[in-house]
Amino acid sequence: LILIKLGGSILTFKDRKYSFRTHVAERLIKEIKNSSVDRYVLVHGGGSFGHPGAQKYGLNTTEPPSPAEGISRVQLDMRRMNNHILEMMLDQGIWAVSMPGGLITIFDGGELYEIDHEMVRRYLSLGTVPLAFGDVTIDKKRGTTICSGDDIMLGLSDFADRAVFVSDIDGIYKGGELQEEFTEDMLPLETHDLPNEKKKIDVTGGMNKKVKNMLKISERSKTYLVNGEVKGRLRKILDEEEVLATEVIG
Ligand code: IPE
Repeated sequence: LILIKLGGSILTFKDRKYSFRTHVAERLIKEIKNSSVDRYVLVHGGGSFGHPGAQKYGLNTTEPPSPAEGISRVQLDMRRMNNHILEMMLDQGIWAVSMPGGLITIFDGGELYEIDHEMVRRYLSLGTVPLAFGDVTIDKKRGTTICSGDDIMLGLSDFADRAVFVSDIDGIYKGGELQEEFTEDMLPLETHDLPNEKKKIDVTGGMNKKVKNMLKISERSKTYLVNGEVKGRLRKILDEEEVLATEVIG
């Protein structure tokens, strides 16, 4: 089983609310389809659909002021985004089924507590492709919290051979240099490590949090970060061909 996460940074323009990058998404789905991978879970992030509302309603804080409205509105935003991708997959004959993070996870104090493996496994065995996504979910302590696509990747990594993160950068940089392999001792990353740090709204934490999560995943499955802006790289990494990317080794 392969886990593929399409980051919000590649699917949307983070500084323009609800801007879905149709052509990029379509190409990435084609690259997956044209690869030799047939058993996979596709996960996507929130980008400019999920993050603005999550921030507005303080859903990543311990006490959001109006949680019910926030949960409802941000879930709607995420389902709108998810529908774009779902339709594209069906148009290409990929029988995807939506698995909202808010329905397959429970959190505890902002950390993933439980993920519904059985649901994912049973849909897989029917020959469908689970399409999971970052969402607003239930938290045992806080009531509600944000479940990121990265949390879903970690939660499912137990039974995955490989995890591929598709982003808008060539890989992970340290001291301005792209790293073919990234190990724990290279943390923390600082602004000067990155070549072209862009300002992004991101309620689920910056690059360090993402990389730490990838290091955890890599203890169970081979883990890569690849640039989805460049045509063909996702297809190549899925087919285990030589390609510019970073392998994260925990
Ligand atoms: C965020 O998911 C989901 C919401 C904000 C509701 P991610 O944290 O995985 O999204 P990206 O990939 O960083 O945009």
